[in-house]
Amino acid sequence: MQSRRRVLITGSAGGMGQACARLFGATQDLVLTDVDATRLEALAGDLREEGYTVLATHAGDLGDEALLADMMGALGTGSPVTLIHTAGLSPAQADARTIMTVNLVATERLLRGMEPILSLGSVAIVVASMAGHMAAPPRDISALLDDPLAAGFLDRTMAAIDDMGTGGAAGAAGLSYTLSKWAVIRLVERHSVAWARRGARIVSISPGVILTPMGRRELAETPGTRQFAEATPAGRPGRATDIAMAARFLASDEASFITGCDLRVDGGGVAFMRQRGG
Ligand SMILES: NC(=O)c1ccc[n+]([C@@H]2O[C@H](COP(=O)([O-])OP(=O)(O)OC[C@H]3O[C@@H](n4cnc5c(N)ncnc54)[C@H](O)[C@@H]3O)[C@@H](O)[C@H]2O)c1
Repeated sequence: MQSRRRVLITGSAGGMGQACARLFGATQDLVLTDVDATRLEALAGDLREEGYTVLATHAGDLGDEALLADMMGALGTGSPVTLIHTAGLSPAQADARTIMTVNLVATERLLRGMEPILSLGSVAIVVASMAGHMAAPPRDISALLDDPLAAGFLDRTMAAIDDMGTGGAAGAAGLSYTLSKWAVIRLVERHSVAWARRGARIVSISPGVILTPMGRRELAETPGTRQFAEATPAGRPGRATDIAMAARFLASDEASFITGCDLRVDGGGVAFMRQRGG
């Protein structure tokens, strides 16, 4: 019998996280984390009642070092592990600084935190965004974004966002989201080389508009998201299961030659935007 892997799912109480928990949990053992303790425990309770194996739940902010250490302890060492990293914040949910902290800084900490336990066959799937496929930032800002754990990173990045003239808090949050996801795609590519030497893979997924709690809120509150969704060539909204199924493929042995790249799961939205010149 094939041995069951341990899968850590961040943002597991959210739309994509829950879909991933059910899909991966069908064949693997789950370690779940989310900042929302109530929804996390409710999900874990439901999954256990439905017959899934939830090895551990870790409620807390992803940026918390102690939480990170506990999660890595739950994953253990010596056998290959899977990370499905969905936790994140969108412009309608938080301010520019918080978005950058969670989406980029915490992601870098998480990936570095995983490095000591990587073994042959380990894999990480990191959820980025179609927003990361908008125009690349100027070179000085991209250099800044490539080092999110540098001293003063958040202060310098927020100052750079202000200088770019975003026209207020909502614009700054939107730009912070776009830059954070652009940087996450690069960060995955960068880590992939060292991970490959350990026999491990890392890939990002860039979703289009997906009807999760986050996606529905963005659709209701952000005109740009609505326009993007309406123009999506696939002609239907994305579902959390679209992302979970892509993640399952990318984490599987069938994808063993795929690493250090980004897969857009967006119904053709970015392709449309580029052809339109947007
Ligand atoms: N839904 C979309 O349309 C869409 C589009 C592109 C990219 N994404 C990305 O997909 C990922 C998943 O989004 P979703 O649609 O499932 O959103 P969601 O809001 O349904 O779920 C996100 C989860 O992350 C958790 N979370 C937020 N901040 C956290 C923190 N500091 N520590 C730990 N957990 C935290 C939330 O509690 C929530 O349960 C995000 O990274 C998001 O940026 C979403």
